[in-house]
Amino acid sequence: MPDTTQPIRFGSNAGQPVSRRDGIAKVTGAAPFAADNQPDNLLHAVYAPAAIARGRVTHLDVAAARAHPGVTHVFTPANRPALEGDPDDKPTMFSFRVEVLQDDTVRYAGQPIALVLAETLEAAHEGVRLLAPRYDMEPSRVTLDDATPFDVEPGGFGRPAATVHGDVEAGHAAAARAIDVTYETAAQYHNAMETHAIVAQWDGDRLHLDVPTQALNISCAAYAAFFGIPAENVTISSPYLGGGFGSKAIPIGPNVLAILAARAMGRPVKLMLTRQQMFGPVGHRGATRQRLRLGTDAAGALTVIDHDGLSATSTFDDFMEPAANASQGLYAAGALRSTHRGVRLDIGTPGPMRAPGEASGSAALECALDEMAEAAGLDPLDFRLINYAETEPGTGKPYTSKALRECYAQGAERFGWAGRPLAPGQMRDEQGMLTGWGMGTALFPCPMFFAEARATLRPDGTALFETSAADMGQGAWTSLAQIAADSLGLPLEKVEFHAGHSSLPDGGVAGGSGHTATAGTALHTAGIDVVRQLGEIASADPDSPLHGAGNARFVAHDGRLWIEGDDQRSDAIEEIVMRAGGVEITGQGQGGRPQEVGETYAMNAHGAVFAEVKVDPDLGQVRVSRLVGAFAAGRIINPKLVESQLMGGMIWGLGFALHEKASHDPATGRILNADLAGYHVPVNADVQGLEVITVHEDDPHVNPLGIKGVGEIGIVGTVGAIGNAIWHATGKRIRHFPIGIPDLL
Ligand code: MOS
Repeated sequence: MPDTTQPIRFGSNAGQPVSRRDGIAKVTGAAPFAADNQPDNLLHAVYAPAAIARGRVTHLDVAAARAHPGVTHVFTPANRPALEGDPDDKPTMFSFRVEVLQDDTVRYAGQPIALVLAETLEAAHEGVRLLAPRYDMEPSRVTLDDATPFDVEPGGFGRPAATVHGDVEAGHAAAARAIDVTYETAAQYHNAMETHAIVAQWDGDRLHLDVPTQALNISCAAYAAFFGIPAENVTISSPYLGGGFGSKAIPIGPNVLAILAARAMGRPVKLMLTRQQMFGPVGHRGATRQRLRLGTDAAGALTVIDHDGLSATSTFDDFMEPAANASQGLYAAGALRSTHRGVRLDIGTPGPMRAPGEASGSAALECALDEMAEAAGLDPLDFRLINYAETEPGTGKPYTSKALRECYAQGAERFGWAGRPLAPGQMRDEQGMLTGWGMGTALFPCPMFFAEARATLRPDGTALFETSAADMGQGAWTSLAQIAADSLGLPLEKVEFHAGHSSLPDGGVAGGSGHTATAGTALHTAGIDVVRQLGEIASADPDSPLHGAGNARFVAHDGRLWIEGDDQRSDAIEEIVMRAGGVEITGQGQGGRPQEVGETYAMNAHGAVFAEVKVDPDLGQVRVSRLVGAFAAGRIINPKLVESQLMGGMIWGLGFALHEKASHDPATGRILNADLAGYHVPVNADVQGLEVITVHEDDPHVNPLGIKGVGEIGIVGTVGAIGNAIWHATGKRIRHFPIGIPDLL
């Protein structure tokens, strides 16, 4: 584990609003994405999705598909070659049970039921059409009311444990005022611009994959397990992703099928999901129903937050949106309880989707808080300040840092919150639109995973930094390179940064908002390892001003090596290297977090989001006219990219509040709106007056770099803020998301 006892000396790169280093390549089309690969002799694969949600496939017209010109093969459960690994096994972190034509049963609409291989993409699609499947259909269960809830047995990924702090019954009994409200959130589907895609090529028992993934080395191990080969036999190239959102952390069934087909046919195979298929076997955010029972004493102090989450999952796997956990870390209630129950439905297995748990749970919590504030006759911000947690609620752990008060203050100031009337329905604008103001608190934990990196200082004074993890589109190629350059005291243009290939040191996962912190720490410590070696060389060199410095701690800045704390003695790095014969110096680094840190401290990024909405009193149409978010997330490596990340999160929150919802046809269980025409996400015209404030925060404990992460937190406070603003505009408390026009008529 890296040394966390010494403060980090940053150079001139961290903190700069550098534009994306991959920006030109991205916008000119020069950046290669997985599906851009066209190896010779390529076969195209398209899978047939089930059109029912529950039952059996009774007939596929394989002969008709095979007879179509260009179609070379059709895989069905009847002839699918054997896999060495069990599709029900979960060999690695983020593994789910995959559907790879095990049998003829259908467990959800969109499940692959056959795979067509053809010389052209068009022929493969036509082959799928010609299969004309027939089914034995059983009634499907697709809503939370369609099946009996069960208690979640915690353990493993996506099976949240119940958490209780304090005496919950006493908290209820002590309440002078109480509310008991139930909120619902809809099923949502990740819809990255780049759909899932893979190009699979075998060479003997070695496998190369061009596949977008948030976790390259983990994915190598996962795919290897299905084919009975060692993980080192698999290489993955994933230099760029057109969005991940959690969906691309998961090895998916269609990819396994493509790899299997490539092996069986002895040819490279490309498979790319259609937009409609993105509503299929690739995870999603499961629907939730959340009951919140809150109580306050006469002064408005919370005596209890009792949060029960009911989450949809599939009939064959376990992942459940851990919504109720959102109530654990935020407000200083006398007692806290989070419980989770599941409902098994005929749907694909949900998975982690951007702020899994925090987004859905806080949507309900922040609205319930607003309802509680209303019942107590308090301003929503005052109510949150009365219940401000100085230490982590329940555990009493100190925070590594917490500038939430400053977030509230700066956000409220910028927004003009002080002028807000307490009662709803008081404000109209010049056009007669009902106007309302609402707020929500944002919190996201600061997980760190594990990552490795390598730094190579070259004799010409440039450096190469390498780590495998990918850039999902958030700018990792740039912010990670800034951290790397500072570790050697080099200007950014002298640092080459390689990522996105599994043969590089394991960069861990770009997820959990922990990539910059984790891979950044690995890169930094790799650079420090080079600095240490430079120090050894200089110390042993009679010609160096640093001769005999021995075990001193060295730092590099301004192209020179220094003894820390001594600004008299230094040596030019290029000269140290030259005198040593022009050597290349390679350093290794790791990123992670010693267990004691998590045992001692609570670690979160925080924020406060303020929303203004305009509601048409006649048409029920909602416009979010202003969104101000103030966030404290430790050290900001690249303010430009961070602002973009936070804006993206807030826009996602807007979509959660007003747009995103997958609707099932009760007859077939199919998703009715499985495309971007019917499944709405915010477009430019939906987004107005968006402002991001980053609040300064020094954090000496969270990790040596002081980075908390910004990938997901923007969503968290925004959903509730918009719901609360709609109440404030209209007096209508809508207890589900998304909130639509019919709710406001
Ligand atoms: Mo994520 S849901 O941390 O990719």
